[in-house]
Amino acid sequence: MEKTLVIIKPDGIERGLMGEIISRYEKKGLKIADCKMIEADKETLKRHYVEHKGKSFYEDLIIYMTRGKVFVMIIEGSNAIQIIRKLHGKTNPLEAEVGTIRGEFANSVTENIVHASDSKDSAEREISIWFS
Ligand code: RTP
Ligand code: MG
Repeated sequence: MEKTLVIIKPDGIERGLMGEIISRYEKKGLKIADCKMIEADKETLKRHYVEHKGKSFYEDLIIYMTRGKVFVMIIEGSNAIQIIRKLHGKTNPLEAEVGTIRGEFANSVTENIVHASDSKDSAEREISIWFS
């Protein structure tokens, strides 16, 4: 069964959206295989976001992701990686489709409530970072 790494980011927790978000995955038929609520340390985040190092938004991203707790999950199911990306919607709030998590709840490119792995390789890599 395909697995993916999902994070509810600090704004999702601050705004009380955890139940809303998790229920969408469950209603779609996906399984929460493991989960934990933690304060992410900088080293873990730097490994997680290594592909974005040096980009204009990188520093803001690390500050944002360390300002409160995050809820990290391994989610499994058929085509879990692509299905979750669809449920989340596009990064840019102007492009996030109505009905997606970002389309309904986010209006910021940086503060966009959720993260999900974007490929099998990144899912494997990210799961080993957060659940080693
Ligand atoms: P994610 O990795 O969180 O699932 O989101 P994504 O693939 O849609 O976005 P990605 O390009 O991987 O960017 C990672 C996260 O960095 C923040 N970001 N800010 N201000 C900006 O221009 C900007 N661009 C990206 C977002 O929090 C994004 O989810
Ligand atoms: Mg990404």
